Amino acid sequence: MSNPASPPAVGVLAGRPPLTFPPGFLWGAATAAYQIEGAAAEGGRTPSIWDTFSHTPGRVVAGHTGDVACDHYHRLDEDVALMAELGLKSYRFSVSWPRVQPGGAGPANPEGLDFYRRLVDALLAHGIEPWLTLYHWDLPQPLEDAGGWPARDTAGRFADYTRLVADALGDRVRYWTTLNEPWCSAFLGYGSGAHAPGRSDAADAVRAGHHLMLGHGLAVQALRAARPDAEVGVTVNLYPVTPASGEPADVDAARRIDGLANRFFLDPLLRGSYPADLMADLAGVTDFGHVREGDLATISTPLDLVGVNYYSRHVVAAPVEGVAPETYWRAPSCWPGSEDVRFVTRGVPVTDMDWEIDAPGLVETLRRVHEEYTDLPLYVTENGSAFVDAVVDGAVDDVDRLAYFDAHLRAAHEAIAAGVPLHGYFAWSLMDNFEWAWGYTKRFGMIYVDYDSQTRIPKSSARWYAEVIRRNGLAA
Ligand code: NOJ
Repeated sequence: MSNPASPPAVGVLAGRPPLTFPPGFLWGAATAAYQIEGAAAEGGRTPSIWDTFSHTPGRVVAGHTGDVACDHYHRLDEDVALMAELGLKSYRFSVSWPRVQPGGAGPANPEGLDFYRRLVDALLAHGIEPWLTLYHWDLPQPLEDAGGWPARDTAGRFADYTRLVADALGDRVRYWTTLNEPWCSAFLGYGSGAHAPGRSDAADAVRAGHHLMLGHGLAVQALRAARPDAEVGVTVNLYPVTPASGEPADVDAARRIDGLANRFFLDPLLRGSYPADLMADLAGVTDFGHVREGDLATISTPLDLVGVNYYSRHVVAAPVEGVAPETYWRAPSCWPGSEDVRFVTRGVPVTDMDWEIDAPGLVETLRRVHEEYTDLPLYVTENGSAFVDAVVDGAVDDVDRLAYFDAHLRAAHEAIAAGVPLHGYFAWSLMDNFEWAWGYTKRFGMIYVDYDSQTRIPKSSARWYAEVIRRNGLAA
């Protein structure tokens, strides 16, 4: 790598055994359109719900917006060159819906599609497999004005948009995922309102979750029709949910949160049904009248792969009168019908997001998906950590992030040894970026971004990851 930096901080990993991954393991890094592209009003792009939300005072820390972000729209070639220096085998990015279909309806915007064609061609020219996510949270604003994801029609609009993208890029993109983390779109977007569009209505959140999955199923069918050779999947964010004690009330709290966080999505997508206990828990919120005949068959249209995003574990306890932590995604309103469940912290080390570092949770999560739900190939489509970084003499020695990656890759390897068909791993994130409601205050990147100059500095974790990819494993 051309930037000056200190050698990889291998010292923190001393004494850990070497590990080799299966041949052909897909090593990648991930980003998302709104978090990196900028150029919010260029090339025919129209506003998404995240433009509206970030420009609404009080919604994003320090009033940060994605207007410029990492300016990736104008720095595509430089950024792909950095990926090539890292030796990435694959790059997971998302397409901005309002860039390729302004306003969310009607014909494609050739200029928008051209940006992604150039990106994909640059990746292919460097031997990097493009991995395209269709929806990473940037719903065109007019579709929100027409009701957003709680409205059934949005699912159909998503399928139309998918057709446009498949027709334009299907000849050069093999791997497709429909949604990224539908839990966040539904329960942060329409439940707690911590994410765009910032609405807070429990029944709407549940409806949004259903229509997101319906849109997914319709999009899978559209992709299959357009490109029978495509590898198609979805990315869900999953958490092991652990009761704080063996007391029946705590165990039941864990069952409820597991229902909302994990099974709300896994069961319809991979089994074609909603869990009965979850429906009973939600009885006071909705009668599920929005679920029409045939929806669950559409939602469970067979896939080729499942993407898992893993960051941390939820530890929960039974309600105690008057006690309800109110922070971000643990806010009670993220959990319709179970608002009184308590999220417990265990005092173990946390990242800058305050998320507990729990690598064994990745093994549990991957094993569960494989053992309880599917034989399909699994991919870790995101895993990573925010830490405060310091630039010293032009270098960033991010030993905490590096150790986080190392621990989670060891967990991924353990899952493979236990029989999980894990075929790849994408680090979150390629570079520092707009961390949603936290703006630019949280850094997840392997590459440091100086937002004033738009200089990129590969951190120690990037150099270390390049070596992991080169060896197809971890050194001693
Ligand atoms: C999941 C999301 O997909 C991504 O956009 C976000 O930045 C990371 N988690 C970190 O919070």
